[in-house]
Amino acid sequence: MRNNIFKSNIHPSEITSKTLFESRRRWMQGSVASLAALALPQNIAHARDGVQFPVPIDRGKNKFSSDEEQTSYSDVTRYNNFYEFGMGKEDPFEQAHRLKTDGWKIQVVGEVGRPKTFDMDDILKLAPIEERIYRLRCVEAWSMVIPWVGFPLSKLLNEVQPTGNARFVEFVSLYDTEQMPGQKSPVLDWPYTEGLRIDEAMNPLTLLTVGLYGEILPNQNGAPVRIIVPWKYGFKSAKSIVTIRLTEKQPNSSWNLANPSEYGFYSNVNPNVSHPRWSQRRERRIGEFLKRDTLMFNGYSEWVADLYRDLDLTEYF
Ligand code: MTE
Repeated sequence: MRNNIFKSNIHPSEITSKTLFESRRRWMQGSVASLAALALPQNIAHARDGVQFPVPIDRGKNKFSSDEEQTSYSDVTRYNNFYEFGMGKEDPFEQAHRLKTDGWKIQVVGEVGRPKTFDMDDILKLAPIEERIYRLRCVEAWSMVIPWVGFPLSKLLNEVQPTGNARFVEFVSLYDTEQMPGQKSPVLDWPYTEGLRIDEAMNPLTLLTVGLYGEILPNQNGAPVRIIVPWKYGFKSAKSIVTIRLTEKQPNSSWNLANPSEYGFYSNVNPNVSHPRWSQRRERRIGEFLKRDTLMFNGYSEWVADLYRDLDLTEYF
């Protein structure tokens, strides 16, 4: 059985750090609505800004969702990349309680007709919240299968009316060295920045993500809102975003700036193009012993291969 805290008999305190568990318990205790959400796993309990209400999640069979076995909740929330909290895989789990998500806002600016700053309630009202079970393939050759919760990013982008010059979308994560001690190290050019072409951002697979495993996004997974782009290496999926900027020119990305020969702008999962230091042909599914073959576009070719039909993927890696 999966380690969904709503479904399994594993107590959350066994899989969550004490601080995270305590803070989660505080908001769960705070309202009858949240308790109702516990009883009804199709609701995501949203508890930001002191507002607590259950948001219904559409868990119907989704054509984009994988039916593979899901990675355990424990692995999904303890084995993370979130360099703002350190470079070790367990650093985010241990450090991300420092992140304050109350009053979070995302400004959507640039080549748009109606620039707007959204708070979390505005965001949650934009579109029905869905569960999407997506594979996440990291460039480091491991992968997971995660039940994400969110809605297509296109719903937010349409709201601000992109102009005819909007060719790319830039995502900027929070910059705050007090909350994010990892930013005191120059390992990346902070704030963490990523980008997509506008048609990639508008693709129905690209998810504006507010939760996983039927609950609000844990801090270490990019609370309160992140992007998930399932056919690209995990680093394209920026966490804890505060700005979305539509641009005419291709934006920088932190990893591309750090090492352009290893991390290209496109970063499509591609078993045929090796990372300079290792092959991308195989991957280790977290929780499994034997490696498995990596699939082109992480298995999402049917939905995205057309986006790249005119592109030499060895040059635009
Ligand atoms: N976003 C920010 N802001 N900072 C990061 O270090 N790491 C990326 C991506 N998004 C990262 C980020 C990488 S390398 C991966 S593999 C995924 O987040 C990991 O997401 P997960 O920890 O939720 O599995």
